[in-house]
Amino acid sequence: MKWEVSTDELCEDLLPMINAKRTPIVKILKGFLSEKEKETVEVWGWIRTSRFSKNISFISINDGSSFESLQLVVENAAFSMDESQLLTGTSVRATGKVVPSTGAQQFEVQVRELQVISAADERFPLQKKRHTQEFLREIAHLRPRTNTHLAVGIVRNTLAYAIHSFFQKEGFRYVHAPILTKSDCEGAGEAFRVTSQDPAKVSAFDWKNDLFGQEVYLTVSGQLEAEALAMGLGQVYTFGPTFRADPSETTRHAAEFWMVEPEMAFYDLDDLKLLISRFIKSITETIWTQCQDEITFFTKFVEPELGNRFKTILEQDFGDISYQEAQEILVKSKKVFEVKPEIGRDIATEHERYLVDEVFKKPVFVTNYPKTIKPFYMRENADGKTVACLDLLAPAIGEIIGGSQREERFDRLEAKMRALGQSDDYKWYLETRQWGSVPHSGFGLGFERMMMYLTGVKNIKDVLAFPRASRRIW
Ligand code: 4AD
Ligand code: MG
Repeated sequence: MKWEVSTDELCEDLLPMINAKRTPIVKILKGFLSEKEKETVEVWGWIRTSRFSKNISFISINDGSSFESLQLVVENAAFSMDESQLLTGTSVRATGKVVPSTGAQQFEVQVRELQVISAADERFPLQKKRHTQEFLREIAHLRPRTNTHLAVGIVRNTLAYAIHSFFQKEGFRYVHAPILTKSDCEGAGEAFRVTSQDPAKVSAFDWKNDLFGQEVYLTVSGQLEAEALAMGLGQVYTFGPTFRADPSETTRHAAEFWMVEPEMAFYDLDDLKLLISRFIKSITETIWTQCQDEITFFTKFVEPELGNRFKTILEQDFGDISYQEAQEILVKSKKVFEVKPEIGRDIATEHERYLVDEVFKKPVFVTNYPKTIKPFYMRENADGKTVACLDLLAPAIGEIIGGSQREERFDRLEAKMRALGQSDDYKWYLETRQWGSVPHSGFGLGFERMMMYLTGVKNIKDVLAFPRASRRIW
């Protein structure tokens, strides 16, 4: 056993090795091979582009280990190649020697042996260099072979891992909230119902005959369960799928999306703001340092301002205004909105966008909304009118986080729930306040909204591998 490893070796060890014979392309392109190893490599991949000329052919392949593709250089004299077998999409195996490249990459492979594993013909849909995202959405199963969706996949992975790393380093416990639930936590009536009955076989549908003997939903948020867990485990976070039957067809809403929901005992709203700032900055920095190839690509083809976005998040303090102040800015503005801003009403998406895109030009906390437009669990402020909550709005996206200090006072929560006619289904939640209740807070980050923010991708359907949204299931 060797205990001391250099950083380079560590990187190499962490890189994918499906089998000892195959060299992942990333190792070649990032210069991780020794001179001896460069003499003979075996690579596998899918052809992205091929260019044939009289004496020499260039075939660019990608194996998913790296955003960049590897150029294979084939001296035609040494081969009898069937060019019709080497079109975009074909999978190949090649052996050869790694040599310095004069092209865009530092290295390329001079091919000694080339074998077609499975040929793609001209019916393979990804023929053009650039397809519209609308077209690609129709072939979600094939789009991982495009630059955009490879880059999205790489950033999604790095972002998910960065989120776990942040919370683990902060001493949070990763917990798992159930997917099947009795409660519609947000009270917005957007929950999908789940039944074990086959509608075609029951004449009169009755929840009593269902597996659980009552109405059951797919979770819209793991918050209520996370709160219960935080009351014993202290600081917890969930990171899982969430479901909302929202019929609005926007570029920011999906029916199935992923949410990160930390919940902290002994935390007030100021603690929460501090945590959120550090969290967003930390995960953004990880993407900046680990996903440079992808950011360069997104900046070139998707969002030219992406670099500035990173700079703003990393270098500036987030804005911080109350709901009242936000409404005053909106009411006073000369901008013509579709929905007129009005104190007491919710802040619409177009209002959020005005605040972040035109006024602050950076992420902004909006705090202390009227209690009438927010869910029952938020802690009532001393004014009796507002609740200790926050939304974090981001330029170009709008809301990326919703959170609050929770109502920990048993009597107040009970009174509120009674007034709302909350059923016995929430009795367990109330009991978390009955014995040893403590101030606590939490928030929910929409994982895909954060992905959109950090990649510049404009439609949530293009940061989800297999998006599910109103009227569409791929
Ligand atoms: O603001 P929301 O509804 O808050 C909650 O669900 C709280 N229970 C969270 C908590 O305090 N633990 O949702 C939180 C975030 C939003 O800010 C948004 O980023 C994202 O989830 N989100 C959606 N993302 C994609 N598609 C949808 N339909 C979304 N609805 C909310
Ligand atoms: Mg919200």
